[in-house]
Amino acid sequence: MTESNRIFIEPLECQQCLTISRPDSGFSVRGRIRVPGDKSISHRALMLGALADGETTIQGLLLGEDPRSTAACFQALGANISDLSTQEVRVRGIGLGKLLEPVDVLNAGNSGTTLRLMLGILASHDGRFFTVTGDDSLRSRPMSRVVKPLQQMGAEIWGRKDNALAPLAIRGRSLQPIHYHSPIASAQVKSCILLAGLLTDGQTTVTEPALSRDHSERMLKAFGANILVDPETCSASVIGPATLTGQSVVVPGDISSAAFWLVAGAIVPSSDLTIENVGINPTRTGVLEVLAMMGADITQENVREVAGEPVADLHVRAGAPLRACTIAGDLIPRLIDEIPVLAVAAAFAEGTTVIQNAEELRVKESDRIAVMATQFNKMGARVTELPDGMEITGGTPLTGADVDSHTDHRIAMSLAIAALTAKGTTTINRAEVAAISYPEFVATLQSVCAT
Ligand code: S3P
Repeated sequence: MTESNRIFIEPLECQQCLTISRPDSGFSVRGRIRVPGDKSISHRALMLGALADGETTIQGLLLGEDPRSTAACFQALGANISDLSTQEVRVRGIGLGKLLEPVDVLNAGNSGTTLRLMLGILASHDGRFFTVTGDDSLRSRPMSRVVKPLQQMGAEIWGRKDNALAPLAIRGRSLQPIHYHSPIASAQVKSCILLAGLLTDGQTTVTEPALSRDHSERMLKAFGANILVDPETCSASVIGPATLTGQSVVVPGDISSAAFWLVAGAIVPSSDLTIENVGINPTRTGVLEVLAMMGADITQENVREVAGEPVADLHVRAGAPLRACTIAGDLIPRLIDEIPVLAVAAAFAEGTTVIQNAEELRVKESDRIAVMATQFNKMGARVTELPDGMEITGGTPLTGADVDSHTDHRIAMSLAIAALTAKGTTTINRAEVAAISYPEFVATLQSVCAT
């Protein structure tokens, strides 16, 4: 490669912006890489480890800012968690029902999963008082979706806007079981109620309109809780009271992080990339189904099961022209976090891709519909906002632009992947937020582009 056709990636020199200049020709995305541990599984391993009797070991934990928030909260609640950066993290649990009353506010940072799942745990810890908060983004995200069902179980929770927004105050109580029919397919809502049911006498059930990720059910079962699942009716139940016993957890690579490389490999000509050790739990693989519908060449190799979760190496090769598709219905909860980067793939597909029934995107770390449409369109994409999704018309070449992540990690990384195909220079402001879920993102970007 000569100097003139080398891709230029200025890694967050100002600690905040990421600059990417693509050569006019002769570059591709290649190599064998690994992505960091699954964020959803990392949170749950730390939480269940903290609630269990005995010791839990965790290999492959995501060292992103979100799991760090979970670890800090549960340390303040009495669990003993070893240095997170060691290869095997050890959690000495305090025992279900035995969490301490912390002396300060519990801060979930940017992490909706930390706050919502923790609420179910705290609300069911009788006799103790807790206060919880988060960063600017999290303090504006709706909590009534978990506060209301917890109140139906007898929980006492107070907060701004009629108890809908953090900071929240919780007086732990002994709760009653419910059968909750959730209006939204949300693993955070489902997991919050199931975790509240652990200390509740009897059967607590959540039924969702479509199946959301089932990591809580799998891991609760492995830790010894009595869990019933009925995928036909999208229901999950816990029969309490439970006792949890420490386990060895192996966290697979995060398919939500692998999605950036799958799209990069599909849209940058001549690319050939293998992402090793990626979790392919069927409740998370909507992104693979959509990329297959679009005609991308992705194969699953070395499929195996690791600690109760299916895992594979994913091999993507560029070449096949992509075609537009419709992304809607039951698929949405199975790829909700991948929609920003799928919008990038859609900009390279022939025709108009329609994304519907994804109104949940408006209440993620940012309003991902509005932010993706405004920022991606600055690069020449043709994205139209829909109330519950977007339409993306493919085929217009992208040009470099000055764009902003709106402090949303997945927007920052999606725009970086788009920049690999844009003529000229793209600057992504506030790109340091990638560290929420993927601290090594820029280093991996440099490594796959340099080969
Ligand atoms: C998550 C569930 C999803 C997802 C989030 C992680 C989880 O949120 O968007 O990034 O770990 O349970 P919802 O449950 O709100 O859809």
